[in-house]
Amino acid sequence: MSRRVLAAGNWKMNKTHSQAAEFIKELALSVKGAKNEILICVPFTNLETALRETEGTNISVGAENMDYHDSGAYTGEISADMLVDLGVKYIIIGHSERREYYAESDKTVNLKVLKALEKDIVPVLCCGESLEQREDGITAEWVRMQIKIALKGVSKEDVTKVVIAYEPIWAIGTGKTATNEQANEVCAVIRDCIKELYGEDAAEATRILYGGSVNAGNAKELFSMSDIDGGLVGGASLKVAEFTTIVNA
Ligand code: 13P
Repeated sequence: MSRRVLAAGNWKMNKTHSQAAEFIKELALSVKGAKNEILICVPFTNLETALRETEGTNISVGAENMDYHDSGAYTGEISADMLVDLGVKYIIIGHSERREYYAESDKTVNLKVLKALEKDIVPVLCCGESLEQREDGITAEWVRMQIKIALKGVSKEDVTKVVIAYEPIWAIGTGKTATNEQANEVCAVIRDCIKELYGEDAAEATRILYGGSVNAGNAKELFSMSDIDGGLVGGASLKVAEFTTIVNA
């Protein structure tokens, strides 16, 4: 079993084009030679800048969303081909903020995962329960359902390309991190679900990240849990020093 740790930043709606250029220059110097894999997912307006500034570095670039149609009358949307043509290799799909504020459903998440794989972009597929669902004791069932629908039609060959990010909604941006055990437990549920659907080899090869108030102080312990293969980091990925510590966790 050799799953390489992935430290992924999700910038969300932060940093202008000029701020991004300056930030990435600094970050590239700071994480040079790191042994974990590094990804930054940035707003559409920063993609070209990010791709240019990361050329020849150990940082990969992803987008935060895309549409599942190939082209057409979808005002304000961005297609997979537009991303591929720029050189984007990763895409966050189904973040809880998109599900909550932009009516993203399990169905559209599934269509986006399929489109990303068709176009050779690595989906970073997000799932996670609300506080109410956790308190109702349905976390495992809920996350399993999200994963099963999101992966509908994904082949065994393709599933290991998908990076899954478990992000409990109650831990996002709240400073309230899941405990190592809570996070690992749900990541193990997800791995078990993949095993059920695709077999043990696929389950062992698939990377599962934890996200939700990951910071410089808790990343190392979280990433060393048996079923956690890295993190999807929001706020702390916007600061060079803090993200560097996380990258080196
Ligand atoms: P925070 O790290 O700011 O809690 O955000 C987590 C997240 O939503 C990453 O996608």
